[in-house]
Amino acid sequence: MAVSPCTKRKITTILFDYLALSLLSTTASGYMISDAGISGRNDLFGEILRDEAVERLNELGKVSDADGYLERTFMSPASVRAGNLIRGWMEDAGLRTWVDRMGNVHGRVEGMNASAEALLIGSHLDTVVDAGIFDGSLGIISALSALKVLKINGILGKLRRPIEVIAFSDEEGVRFQSTFLGSAAVAGILPVTALQISDKSGVTVQAVLEENSIEISEENLLQLKYDPGSVWGYVEVHIEQGPVLERLGFPVGVVKGIAGQTRLKVTVRGSQGHAGTVPMSMRQDPMAAAAELIVLLERLCKHPKDFLSFDGHCNDISLESLSNSLVCTVGEISTWPSASNVIPGQVTFTVDLRAMDDMGRESVIYELSNQMYQICERRSVSCVIDRKHDANAVICDSELSSQLKSAAYSALKKMAGEIQDEIPALMSGAGHDAMAISHLTKVGMLFVRCRGGISHSPEEHVLDDDVWAAGLAILAFLETHM
Ligand code: GLV
Ligand code: MN
Ligand code: MN
Repeated sequence: MAVSPCTKRKITTILFDYLALSLLSTTASGYMISDAGISGRNDLFGEILRDEAVERLNELGKVSDADGYLERTFMSPASVRAGNLIRGWMEDAGLRTWVDRMGNVHGRVEGMNASAEALLIGSHLDTVVDAGIFDGSLGIISALSALKVLKINGILGKLRRPIEVIAFSDEEGVRFQSTFLGSAAVAGILPVTALQISDKSGVTVQAVLEENSIEISEENLLQLKYDPGSVWGYVEVHIEQGPVLERLGFPVGVVKGIAGQTRLKVTVRGSQGHAGTVPMSMRQDPMAAAAELIVLLERLCKHPKDFLSFDGHCNDISLESLSNSLVCTVGEISTWPSASNVIPGQVTFTVDLRAMDDMGRESVIYELSNQMYQICERRSVSCVIDRKHDANAVICDSELSSQLKSAAYSALKKMAGEIQDEIPALMSGAGHDAMAISHLTKVGMLFVRCRGGISHSPEEHVLDDDVWAAGLAILAFLETHM
């Protein structure tokens, strides 16, 4: 299969907008809204949208399976406790709640017309290992805070359409290497074979659910799919996880699209042996081979132009755009038997590969696989490349995005007075539940500034006032469009 690195023009154009935006210099002061003067204003609901939301983020950030760092994986004990906490907050916001058979926690209010198409708002309750407290949780908590304000103002019952908040059970894919177990089930794109995927200890998705008293079969997994006719759209608020908003000096921005991603598992098998007795020339060492494969990956992803060729359909722009967005990571590696005086018998590592351009990503995987097999052959080791996960790039709905942009603008205007610049629009290199839900309905996202662009780290931080801005933006969106 020869795949060309051609791009879809739409994505390329957006990428260039993104790059141009990233190069803009920061506004002199930026929109830092920390000013005691507005704290007392009751039209800004600071007690709920900021103080209580921040308190809840901190509380949820303590719900962990590990001592000393944050970790919640699919249906782990801490994930179940987190789900219960969120469920209580959903009820506090006036929502009817339930947990579905993939462990997603739902809270819904019907408004005046229970049969109208519903707005879904969501994000994930799972985390990476040694996580920050905002990734995922911010989207759930800011939505619940905004709905709580509507409840207090007596507006919940007067909504024109149902609103449903969903805390998805798995977006990070840490435990099963298959991201979006929760949102993909709701979108109807989770294959039934996903129930048989096992974690490192050999426990399957189905068994984990059963351990938690959730009976899941292939048939009732398919029933989790929402009817597209029953849904109006999906909105997700998420920490940016990158530096653009901070550089531009904006608390919130609107998301134009999300990069596509692939996860691979590479297994290299060689000849296990004694570290002291096997001459170097006689070794089939999978560790040295894995090192060469990883360096190849880095070179290819840093300089795709040196590796990919034209097939007559492509142009400079497609390769240029691929070079600008392509990122590749080996985040996990394990060896067997993992002892200092043993030449390993087997090395396994993960590859996470992302790009705005789906064709370009395919081209990279094709070239990478070819060259990896060549290296393994030269080194006389065997090499298996398993494709664990794929999600194509997603373009956010333009109308929904412009509604979110106006809502963000009005929130910031309320908080900061005059806003001179347009709310920034940016691309997401990180994956989000919105990718899975885009198979069900139109999606729109708001990003919230984070300190230093840091995420997937305990250093992840969002200013209290930026949490407030996010809640106020969602509130403005709900008040105007629902
Ligand atoms: C999720 O955070 C991802 O982008 O991997
Ligand atoms: Mn994440
Ligand atoms: Mn996330």
